[in-house]
Amino acid sequence: MLKRVICVVGARPNFMKIAPLMQCFERSRVLEAYLLHTGQHYDAAMKTAFFEQLHIPEPDADLGVGSGSHAVQTAEIMRRFEPVLDAQVPDAVLVVGDVNSTIACALVAAKKGVPIIHVEAGLRSFDRSMPEEINRVVTDQLSDLLFTTERQAMVNLEREGIDPRRVHFVGNVMIDTLLENRRRAPAVADVLASAGVDRGPTNGFGVVTLHRPSNVDDPQTLASLILTLAELSTELPLLLPLHPRTAARLESTKLMERAQAACVLLPPLDYLDMLALLQNAVMVLTDSGGIQEETTALGVPCLTLRANTERPTTVEAGTNTLVGNDRPRILAAARDVLRTGGKTGRVPELWDGRAAGRIVRVVEDWYREEMPRAGTTGPGTTGLGD
Ligand code: UD1
Repeated sequence: MLKRVICVVGARPNFMKIAPLMQCFERSRVLEAYLLHTGQHYDAAMKTAFFEQLHIPEPDADLGVGSGSHAVQTAEIMRRFEPVLDAQVPDAVLVVGDVNSTIACALVAAKKGVPIIHVEAGLRSFDRSMPEEINRVVTDQLSDLLFTTERQAMVNLEREGIDPRRVHFVGNVMIDTLLENRRRAPAVADVLASAGVDRGPTNGFGVVTLHRPSNVDDPQTLASLILTLAELSTELPLLLPLHPRTAARLESTKLMERAQAACVLLPPLDYLDMLALLQNAVMVLTDSGGIQEETTALGVPCLTLRANTERPTTVEAGTNTLVGNDRPRILAAARDVLRTGGKTGRVPELWDGRAAGRIVRVVEDWYREEMPRAGTTGPGTTGLGD
């Protein structure tokens, strides 16, 4: 009998991570995947376009939770996931990344004694004001099998008392998707045309993405960022695909017009359109986690509008520079890229397009060899700092 793994997706950054895993599960003779979408992201632009472009099969179940406060959204996912878990009786639950769907489904599975597999484990910003950091720490503590994208993640997990035998450094599934799709990306002119932009820059532009609460929820911070972008746009035209959260904040703070004057505003883009912009950009300014990695894989300079990153290899090996959200620092770093061409960097170890295959092989072996579970292996799993 095939081992059944419930694979959970919820929000936009999950979709490109699950796509290559679903393909490998499809070929496995040991495992079968049951795809569950929590419905955390539900708009066509935030969900459907990704499923279609990345050939992700229609979910076997959609919990349809929608938006809410963190507590409401997490609780609602948990409440709706439990009966699915009871009905499916899976052999494992696989979660990716660090969104609310990740922690919610991991928590339900842990309480039911169902093994948890976490893909993209061990990343730490050491900043608990980020909701994603809380999701990462708790999900990793609950997980039985942990897959990491970079070496520092293994160090972080060991420091938190997680048995290294349960941790596997496999590379980056999001980069599997990037490498598989980069040649399918359309021309920038087509992206702009389909977004309804008549006269936009098709080369020599920067790309901006903004959605973190730390950048968009405080009106003063948001206003200062828009002012900074306006100043930079006199030297480099900027394209800004707007996340719904950011669009709502720009409206409520009456900053939308200023943002329109500073940047060519675009709707949320599908995967291939975004890839077209990223790979043709002079530089990218972002507060996204995934885009820090994608720009490193593409060799495009990235200025991260945050004080820290949970993905240090993008700074140490890659093209990423942390610039925070302070105007002089952002402008100095951007001008440096315009003058020098920016960091060239190298592609991190194992970001080679084959991470999903490695993960599925480890999971298959795990079932053959009865590997240790979370919290059952004695020293090393007993707590912090021992
Ligand atoms: C979530 C993830 C974040 C990820 C981001 C990428 C958590 C804690 N955060 O943040 O890690 O980087 O997704 O997009 O899980 N909305 C829509 N349509 C949608 C989805 C959301 O309009 O399809 C709007 C809603 O008004 C919602 C807001 O966007 O309130 C924020 O959505 P939510 O899922 O709560 O968090 P994100 O900010 O998207």
